[in-house]
Order: sequence, then C-alpha cells, then structure tokens
Amino acid sequence: MRILGIETSCDETAVALLDFRGSGFKIVKNLVSSQVKIHARYGGIVPEIAAREHVKTIIYLLKEAKISSEIIDVIAVTRGPGLITSLLVGVETAKTLSYAWGKPLVGVNHLEAHIFSAWLRKNKLLKIKFPALVLVVSGGHTLLALMTDYGRYKVIGETLDDAVGEAFDKVAKMLDIGYPGGPIISKLAGKGDPTAIKLPRAMMKSNNFDFSFSGLKTAVLYKVQGLKLKERLLFDMCASFEQAVVDVLVYKTLAAAKKFGVKTVILGGGVSANKKLREELTRGVKKELFATEFLLPPIEYAGDNAAMAAVAGYFNLQKIRNKKNLLGNWRDLEVDPNLEL
Ligand code: KG4
Ligand code: ZN
Repeated sequence: MRILGIETSCDETAVALLDFRGSGFKIVKNLVSSQVKIHARYGGIVPEIAAREHVKTIIYLLKEAKISSEIIDVIAVTRGPGLITSLLVGVETAKTLSYAWGKPLVGVNHLEAHIFSAWLRKNKLLKIKFPALVLVVSGGHTLLALMTDYGRYKVIGETLDDAVGEAFDKVAKMLDIGYPGGPIISKLAGKGDPTAIKLPRAMMKSNNFDFSFSGLKTAVLYKVQGLKLKERLLFDMCASFEQAVVDVLVYKTLAAAKKFGVKTVILGGGVSANKKLREELTRGVKKELFATEFLLPPIEYAGDNAAMAAVAGYFNLQKIRNKKNLLGNWRDLEVDPNLEL
C-alpha cells in the first residue's frame, strides 16, 4: 500500500510517499518546504502569510515528488491541531485529489503523527509493548500521555501556559538571537555552562504531571532586562535555560513512567530534535527504568514532515478498516484546529 502524506499544519509545507510492505515501509519521497526564513523577520509565525505560502507551494511540491494517481493507493492528511488557515490548504488539496483520483482519504492528528515519527528510525511497523508513555514537545504542545494501544491515548499532563518550543522561541527573542529559538539556543548552549545561572524548575516536584514554563521565561527576562548579552554570558544563559527545561521534562517523564509502570517511552515533536533532551532522557530511561524501551525520531524527522503523517495514516487505516464510511469519503473530512490527542 502506497500512502501519500500531506502536512501543512504550521509553517512547513510537506509531502511524502511511503510504500508499506509486510512489516516495513520505504520512504520513497519526503519533501519539506520550510517558511522559516519568511517568518524570521517577524520573530514568529504570521498565520495569514503561512497559509498563503502553503497555497503557493503545495502543488509544486506534489509535482516535484512526481505524485500521480497511478502511484498512490491512499491519501493521509493532517487535519489538526494547528493553524486553521494553514490546515485548510493541506486538507482541501487532499480532498480535491481524493475526489479527482477516486482515492480513499484518511485524516491524521498532528500530535499522533509526531508520536509515530519514532517509527521512521527503523522504517518498520514496530510492535511496541503497552502501556507506553508519550512525551510530545513542540511549538504548540507539551503533553504527557499514556498510550494503551495504537490510537488510544489518555493525556495525564499538559502545560498550563507556554509550550516548550514556544518558551525556546520567546527566550530567543528576548536574547535577540533569532527565530526559531530552539535550534539557536541549543547551539549556543553547547558553548556555555548549564550551571552558571540559577533558574527555576517550575512544578518539577508537583504532585501531578502538568508543566509550566512561563515563570522560567520571566526569570530569564528579569536577568537580561536592559542588558545585551554577549559571548560567555549569552552562552551561559542559553545553557542554563536549556538545562532547566530538560531537567523538568526528564524528571516528570521518568516519574510518570514509574508511576504507571510503562513498558515503552516515546518522545516526539519539534523539540525532540534537542540533543540534550535526547541524551538525558535516553540515559534516564536506561538508568532508572527496568526493561523499558525508549523510542525517539531521527533528528531529521523531529520537526514537521509528511512522512510521519503517512505512518500515522497507516495505523489509522488499520484501526478503522472494518468500519464502513469512516474510511475514504472526502466529504467526511474536516479540519479541526483544536483537535486533541
Ligand atoms: O513540531 P514542530 O516542528 O511544530 C509544531 O508542531 O509546533 O515544533 C517546532 C518547535 C519550535 O518552537 C522550535 O523552536 C522547536 O520546535 N525546536 C527546538 C529544537 N529544534 C526545534 N527546540 C529545542 N531544541 C531544538 N534543537
Ligand atoms: Zn509539529
């Protein structure tokens, strides 16, 4: 089965073609067109511009990937959560192709796609052990959820204010070092001392699995107000901020994994590209959790892409295979900018 994946939930226009055979799959095409340079001058994503860029790009990407009716069996498209005007471009494109080519269409939850990005490491339809714990960290979301089967999730903790990626982006703006903040802070952090500046670890020891990052952001603001950080101090601030975020994420994830006795831990979302988070969570799971498998996406698939949407689409198909009407009717698919896991 060959699945065309389409993703336009935020500021990346993406198209992928995956060929599923037996217990594995091949990534035949994977194209991502990022709008980062366009939004960078505004210091954040401008939704109206993002949507217009998707409209301009999507057909070119499909053409570049040489997608045609003959080479695909199913279309999978991200239908939420995300920016509504961005989502609409991908979903309406997918609906049009589904109608014109007579191909079944399946909607994908973007958060679930980030979870399945871990499957892109081995290109196998991994059979994982349940219950699993998933940590999704992106520009719009920060959540911990229990996964009891494919497609079955229970959110056990969320951020009460900023998402992790958002905190990285806002702190980078305060430090005037560019957009998007995550990769820039992470790079500068490599040259700094993570213990140099004292910053809070909000809610780390709270009696639940929720998060809060706005206090940390404000703490950075107080320390840098009126200053233009350079060299050593800038590197130390980036390293200390990154360490504070990673400490909280790792502590809470391990605590939840222990409490619920999970057999698998999965990391996903744009912030899963963060090296420190990847290393410290890998180490923590190995050291503190017995016989628990840890899955994470290859760095190049941590950010938004359509290959992960195609994998999530494949699993959705298995789930709904026997229920008529749920599969394939382009009329039934609607965007939902607030779609939950
Ligand atoms: O998943 P994603 O590509 O888009 C959303 O669905 O939101 O996540 C984007 C977020 C941005 O906030 C970006 O700053 C952050 O992921 N990010 C990182 C890193 N790479 C991207 N954050 C920390 N460290 C990184 N290396
Ligand atoms: Zn995302």
